[in-house]
Amino acid sequence: MMDPASNQAPIVITGGCGFIGCNLADRLATRGDHVSILDNLARAGVRENAQWLKSRHGDRITITVGDVRDPITVIDTVKHAKAVLHLAAQVAVTSSLDSPVDDFEINARGTLNVLEAVRLHNPGAPLLFASTNKVYGRLIGDDAITRMGQRYQPIDPGLAQGVSESAPLDLYSPYGCSKGAADQYVHDYGRVYGLKTAVLRMSCIYGPRQFGNEDQGWIAHFVLSALRGAPLTIYGDGCQVRDALYVADAADAWLAVLDRIDATRGRVFNLGGGPANAISLLELIDDIARLSGPVSHSFSDWRPGDQPWYVTDIGALANATGWQPRTSFADGLRGLHGWLAGRFAEQRSREALA
Ligand SMILES: NC(=O)c1ccc[n+]([C@@H]2O[C@H](COP(=O)([O-])OP(=O)(O)OC[C@H]3O[C@@H](n4cnc5c(N)ncnc54)[C@H](O)[C@@H]3O)[C@@H](O)[C@H]2O)c1
Repeated sequence: MMDPASNQAPIVITGGCGFIGCNLADRLATRGDHVSILDNLARAGVRENAQWLKSRHGDRITITVGDVRDPITVIDTVKHAKAVLHLAAQVAVTSSLDSPVDDFEINARGTLNVLEAVRLHNPGAPLLFASTNKVYGRLIGDDAITRMGQRYQPIDPGLAQGVSESAPLDLYSPYGCSKGAADQYVHDYGRVYGLKTAVLRMSCIYGPRQFGNEDQGWIAHFVLSALRGAPLTIYGDGCQVRDALYVADAADAWLAVLDRIDATRGRVFNLGGGPANAISLLELIDDIARLSGPVSHSFSDWRPGDQPWYVTDIGALANATGWQPRTSFADGLRGLHGWLAGRFAEQRSREALA
């Protein structure tokens, strides 16, 4: 039986074949960690990420195709882990509205399975959780924002640095509720059972290995639509603002929290690109047009729970760990565009040969 304290003990990543998870796995394996992934491959395209990881790291990464809803599989995966990074989730607000029970079972119950497995079988292992800015709900009303050119901005100058962890929770949509419940369970297991937990409430993460679609991963979805020449639907007026964080910087942040777990345990951190990397949907369309040519788009009604403005205050995380995002949005977008354009070109040449 492997001792979780041994150097050979793996860092477990649930959802490790997904976009953020596989970038984290790649980073950990590159620096010499063993990684054990639990993923049910539910997300379309992520099998490709699994193959990419295996081709780069061989036996340093093991992949168990299994479900966080199955407590036995979860126990088997985490009981010898050096640490657990819990990212597996149903990730789309739209799907949560269609199937709220499935969303709850995966996001809330699945997280409880991970917590219980750690509490009962490996209580010394640090556990980091991928939460979301959606736990803050709509955050500001129409009377608290103003339109400046192609973007909204808050009237309150106190929000110039973005939204901090002291913002009140306002769980909105089944996805917001299930992730919010999981977020609170993870935080509370740190308090009541003394587990080494930390919660990362992420804004919009983007970059290579993201299979974005209309329901989740909007930056990748916009770039892909431009490459395919497919028309885009903008829900709302396109002036809604998000701060975007390049995935390599997000992986740095996760590692910074993990590597300083004695200082970061019990904490909740907002994680995003911050005010310097805030962008509206219409501004993104202009940026993509400069890389790929014009993007045809039309407008439809706002989607439930959509925030007109959300920008992360990254101060708490920066103060606790020294972490800062290093990739400008312009560079990050070029990185994502280059990766998606390469895949698109390969796909086209395969189709031409078929
Ligand atoms: N991408 C973002 O901008 C963002 C923002 C905030 C929070 N998050 C959170 O970060 C995490 C990762 O997001 P992502 O963008 O990499 O999404 P993703 O869909 O690429 O990755 C999620 C992974 O979880 C797996 N999965 C789904 N259901 C599962 C189950 N029942 N059991 C085991 N595995 C399962 C999927 O197959 C997929 O590989 C999620 O928890 C998400 O809620 C992401």
